[in-house]
Parts: sequence; structure tokens; C-alpha cells
Amino acid sequence: MEAELTKAVEILTSGGVVGMPTETVYGLAADIKNPQGIENIFKTKQRPFFDPLIVHIAHLKHLKGVVTEFPELAQFLSEKFWPGPLTMILPKSKMINPKITSGLEFVGVRFPKHPIAQKLINKLGNPVAAPSANLFGKTSPTSSQHVKNEFGDKVFVLEGGPCDVGLESTVIGFDPNYLSIKIYRPGSITKEIIEKTLLQYIKPIPVFEEQSPVAPGHLKHHYMPAIPLMIIGDQEIEDPKLQDEAKLKLKLNGFKPIELVLHNDPTIAARELYQNLRRCSEAGANVIFVREKPEYTGDLWTAIWDRLKKAASLKVDYNV
Ligand code: TXA
Ligand code: MG
Repeated sequence: MEAELTKAVEILTSGGVVGMPTETVYGLAADIKNPQGIENIFKTKQRPFFDPLIVHIAHLKHLKGVVTEFPELAQFLSEKFWPGPLTMILPKSKMINPKITSGLEFVGVRFPKHPIAQKLINKLGNPVAAPSANLFGKTSPTSSQHVKNEFGDKVFVLEGGPCDVGLESTVIGFDPNYLSIKIYRPGSITKEIIEKTLLQYIKPIPVFEEQSPVAPGHLKHHYMPAIPLMIIGDQEIEDPKLQDEAKLKLKLNGFKPIELVLHNDPTIAARELYQNLRRCSEAGANVIFVREKPEYTGDLWTAIWDRLKKAASLKVDYNV
């Protein structure tokens, strides 16, 4: 691994991008201090410049030159959840390349848990910016092979095994006085977990789920597999018989559907989600469907359905 890490650092130092394993999904990393590297992230991913990147640190000292404030509440959360899948949006330092934050005055920061991500950042000596290592709008990669399939020889990938969490980090922001928390992107550090942890904080802090007013990353369609995905059984159609009728209708319309079956245990469902979406896309079908079940709600299911709803591009018309 030392030789691979040395090679990765050389690539980053010369303005290139590297596939970096993290516990959530694989990232496409560039040195935050190398403008060419940052440009290369957007070019390689075909990502629009309005979608900001998360800065990954491997030591609290790396926050210097990244954020201008690290308030008590953020410190408390960092002690509880870092290293780990929590991204905090904080006021940005002037030293941060504006391309990283899409011109916003705030920067997303996270301290990943994966030892190879930490080694890479520490060896480089600078934080890295890293979006998920997939083409813009597509399914995130949870193995090195997924990254290789997406970018071929264009991107050197560090092998870090399959991702343990399987869903991108929870993204949170604060109100200007740090008296409340907003969850902009749900993840494995759930609202319930944050609320429970905050009971130990010096004052009560409410937690809200909110679409980010500034983060455009949350476009309607995202995480999309290679073939269309459809959710059967939105609230209005929980009846399994009607769900089967919807499936039949798909067949009659000439579709070759494949079912994405979610594991009952949300930790496993999350871990396998993107890999299973890829498998379904490669199975010879031309549409994927997934059943919404009433028991699949709350906790980690919130993040799983957030991704599935954005990945879904087809809707069943039950009135036909
Ligand atoms: O788990 C993860 O977070 C993975 C791994 C690689 O660390 N990274 C990831 O990055 O998912 P990406 O670029 O695919 O998603 C980052 C999202 C943006 O789309 C945006 O919604 C939010 O994080 N974000 C980043 N910087 C922000 C900022 N300054 N203000 C608001 N939202 C921001
Ligand atoms: Mg992404």
C-alpha cells in the first residue's frame, strides 16, 4: 500500500485526481491547494460548477485555512462523530478555492474514518476535496471496481475494499447562532442519532430536516442507475395486490422489469444499495422497480429512500 500511496500523492501534487476509498462511498480526490486538481474533479465527473465539494481532513489541525470558525457545537459533534460519515457546513476561510464551494461563503468539511483516506490526506499534508467518484448524477461507487468501470484508465484508484456504510455522509448546517441544526442530506448518522447525542450537550439544540437553500447538489434527479428506476407503492398504493398490478402493467407495456429487493436490515440495505442498483442495471432488464413498504421508514430508511427517490426517473400511472 505504501507504494500506491506514494503514487497517489504524486498524482495529487501534480494536479491530478485519485480514487479514494472512504467508509461511505469512494471519492474522487484532489489537493484543495491545487487549482488544477480542483478543475480536474469537475472535468472528470462532468460536474457543473454550481455543485460544491466536500473538504476531507485527517486531523483537526487541517481545519486551519479551511474554516474561520469551529464553534462549540461543531466541536462537540466532531468529538462524537469524527472520524465518520458526518459533513458539517461551516464558514469558509478565504484561503479555500471558491470553486470548491461554488462561490458560497460556507464549506462542507468531513473527517473520514477509512484508514486509507486518512493515510492519503496525512501523507499529502493537505486536505482533499472529494465528491463521490461517479459521473455527475449517476450512482455512487462503493467498490474500487465501480470507480474503474466509470473512468477506466483515466483515474488511479486506491484499493480500500467495499465501503462499509454504502451511502454518502450526512450533511448538516447550523443557524447563524449555532442554536439549531439542519440536516441537508440524510445519511447513516440519522436525525434520531444526532438528537440522542445532543441530549449530552450543554443546551437544547433542535434538529430539522431541510432542503438546503444554497446547496444545489440536491437536484431532483441524482444517483441514477444506467436503466430507469421506478418506485412502486408510494403512500397512495400500499396494497400489495395493486403493486402487483402495477408490475403487470409494466410487463404489458413491453418492459422487462427487475425487482430491487431491499434487505430488511437497513444497515445492510444501505451498504448494498448502490451495488444492487448496478447489478440490476446489468441483468438484461430495462427497468428496475423497488417496493415501498410501510415498515421501511424512519432512522436509516430516511437516507435510503432519499437516494431511491432521487434515483427514480419513472412513475407508474395507476389510472391507465
Ligand atoms: O460521503 C460523502 O460525503 C462522499 C465521500 C466521498 O466523502 N462525498 C460526497 O460528495 O458525497 P458529493 O460531492 O457527491 O456530495 C456533496 C454534497 C453536495 O452536493 C452538496 O449537497 C453538499 O454536499 N455540500 C457540499 N458543500 C456544501 C456547501 N458549502 N454548502 C452546502 N452544501 C454543500
Ligand atoms: Mg455525489
